[in-house]
Amino acid sequence: MADIRFDGKVAIVTGAGGGLGRTYSLLLASRGAKVVVNDLGGAFNGEGSSQAAAQKVVDEIKAAGGVAAPDYHSVIDGAQIVKTAIDAFGRLDIVINNAGILRDVSFHKMTEDDWQKVIGVHLQGSYAVTKAAWPILRDQSYGRIVMTTSAAGLYGNFGQANYAAAKLGIAGLGLALAWEGEKRNIKVNVIAPIAGSRMTETVLPKEVCDNLKPEYVAPLVAYLCSEQCQSTGGIYEVGAGVFSRVRWLRAPGATLPLTGPITPENVADNWAKINDMTGGAMCGSLHESSMLTMKNFASLKK
Ligand code: NAI
Repeated sequence: MADIRFDGKVAIVTGAGGGLGRTYSLLLASRGAKVVVNDLGGAFNGEGSSQAAAQKVVDEIKAAGGVAAPDYHSVIDGAQIVKTAIDAFGRLDIVINNAGILRDVSFHKMTEDDWQKVIGVHLQGSYAVTKAAWPILRDQSYGRIVMTTSAAGLYGNFGQANYAAAKLGIAGLGLALAWEGEKRNIKVNVIAPIAGSRMTETVLPKEVCDNLKPEYVAPLVAYLCSEQCQSTGGIYEVGAGVFSRVRWLRAPGATLPLTGPITPENVADNWAKINDMTGGAMCGSLHESSMLTMKNFASLKK
């Protein structure tokens, strides 16, 4: 495989003032990308702001001989971040939606603000940046977008209802845009990373946090952002040297005839079958997913 490089390409990395985003920015810049290092610079719970975080990473990139520009907007103002890329570098090819905050609290104690802030930064932020970038990527028939979900979204997690909802929403946004970008060579993929960062230092033991390096995640992100990557619509779990695609698995289930009434008792009688994942199928599209139901529905007309 030829070297993966980004010469002539411009990337936006949101939330790049630290943690995973900083590492993505350094890697892309070291391989020739011009990088817009976006970060609002607030606390992990979304409070406050500072220009220091983004500026520090820009300085690091420049010290290593790379090209970067800082951007201090919130991802909620996605159009401003895209404007920074165009003003600084005149084009845009790559968007890594990475910014995030946490407001972990059990659902019954969650305030409206905890809900709105987390949905806002993650889901609305990923939307706003991508929405502003989309016409540019479409017009040039080239784009690479990485969305950031989380195992908390894919599987649910106690105390993270706001975060899980936002993160699975982001996965849905990515999967839909993968279809919409197909004809314009815009590849959209989703990652569920795990790495030590200020976001995980409160939940992971220090030794694990220190050694679970963002550098183990960045190579996948760089590949997904490259011209070489022709895949789209994938969700990948990544961390600690593990790279693994995630797909929904649908059980063969129970198919009941539509010729008579279907009762709650029928459901109860078939519960084990409905839940048995043995021989399950991984549907690759909405069309594939609906085939089973449509087939049974069609039996009505015979
Ligand atoms: P981090 O806290 O080090 O990085 C997030 C960055 O986003 C921070 O620098 C923060 O200032 C910035 N940010 C927050 N709100 C912003 C806003 N409104 N506009 C612009 N920037 C903003 O955390 P980490 O771990 O690097 O997280 C990166 C992404 O990965 C997040 O989306 C997170 O949810 C996700 N993730 C991380 C996991 C991990 O194990 N570290 C696990 C699963 C998902």
